[in-house]
Amino acid sequence: MSSFSYQHNQLTAESVSLSDIANKVGTPCYVYSKSALERAYHSYEDAFSGRDHLICYAVKANSSLAVLNCFARMGSGFDIVSGGELTRVLAAGGDAKKIVFSGVGKTSGEIESALQADIFCFNVESESELKRVSSIAQRRGKTARVSIRVNPDVDAKTHPYIATGLKENKFGVAYDDALALYERAHSLPQLEICGIDCHIGSQLTEVTPFEAALEKILLLVDQLEGKGLSIKHIDIGGGLGIRYRAEAPPAPGSYVLSLLQLLGNRPQKLLLEPGRSLVGNAGVLLARVEYIKRNGSKNFLIVDAAMNDLMRPALYDAYHEILPLQKTDMPAVCYDVVGPVCETGDFLGRDRSLGVVEGDLIAIMSAGAYGMSMSS
Ligand code: LLP
Repeated sequence: MSSFSYQHNQLTAESVSLSDIANKVGTPCYVYSKSALERAYHSYEDAFSGRDHLICYAVKANSSLAVLNCFARMGSGFDIVSGGELTRVLAAGGDAKKIVFSGVGKTSGEIESALQADIFCFNVESESELKRVSSIAQRRGKTARVSIRVNPDVDAKTHPYIATGLKENKFGVAYDDALALYERAHSLPQLEICGIDCHIGSQLTEVTPFEAALEKILLLVDQLEGKGLSIKHIDIGGGLGIRYRAEAPPAPGSYVLSLLQLLGNRPQKLLLEPGRSLVGNAGVLLARVEYIKRNGSKNFLIVDAAMNDLMRPALYDAYHEILPLQKTDMPAVCYDVVGPVCETGDFLGRDRSLGVVEGDLIAIMSAGAYGMSMSS
């Protein structure tokens, strides 16, 4: 079920006309459906049925305050990667005790703010970072709860720019070095080992790579426990894909169930860091057609949104469906939908069949994740 549908030939969000919104606030603009956000969150939440868990929404997917506030009110945790994201989560009413801090490049200032806020856990990505967190915690007279992000070396089978779990990627600690780093963490002052985590990539449309990663993580958990290091939570990261076009990713519920099956009756709390699958299909980008132009054999729809508003087509050659806000029986023409930026890479969609005229409004669909947050 989608919150976006045509009613009387008008594209609506939760039955509100998107044209009305565009005319009121101007274009380009992002519009989100609150009920779509809530539905996506509950499709994760409901699958746990009583098992200890925490959903940490990956703020990088969309850090708009209203979106964060919606998750905060549902009791969600948050996965942050910067001090700015920490500030936004707290400003939006998020609970610091439910924040995990990921990312390979945490600065001293960011670590200090997170310690000050008393976040749930630092997902540490290197030995140098471990030492930095320990020395800042010492200086501040605090204890930092840490988990080590392990790189499980599994192929996420996704776009190479968003695969993160292969050993040649910059993310996490090499699988074979993880045990030694946990022992190092144990020996450093003011650190409390609380978990283990991984994140193998984004827009995954199959569950098998997640299962392969979790199996490798569980092997490590057993080895760590054998050394007397107890692990209280397992964080499997984010990465579940959404449907942009013809993809058929598993529903969050069945994805969670397959993870729970692997966990069996282990006592650890399960953490997830979904981003895209919570917000991706809950948002659209609205734009107005400024000009229609023909160059040689090509037709261009020049709109007032561009690569700076939605970077994904230019950066990953990503596909986003494009729909007219007003459905008519005008014959469709094949267009490249482009923005006003002086870059040939400035396109939102290529070879799209649309029946529109200058001045019409269009919606770029599935733009809720990595749209606004990657805009400039
Ligand atoms: N946790 C960590 C540590 C991450 O690095 C990411 C995303 C997530 C969770 C959330 O992953 P998701 O559930 O959203 O797949 N800009 C790219 C996506 C980059 C993803 C980066 N990491 C895009 O537009 O496709």
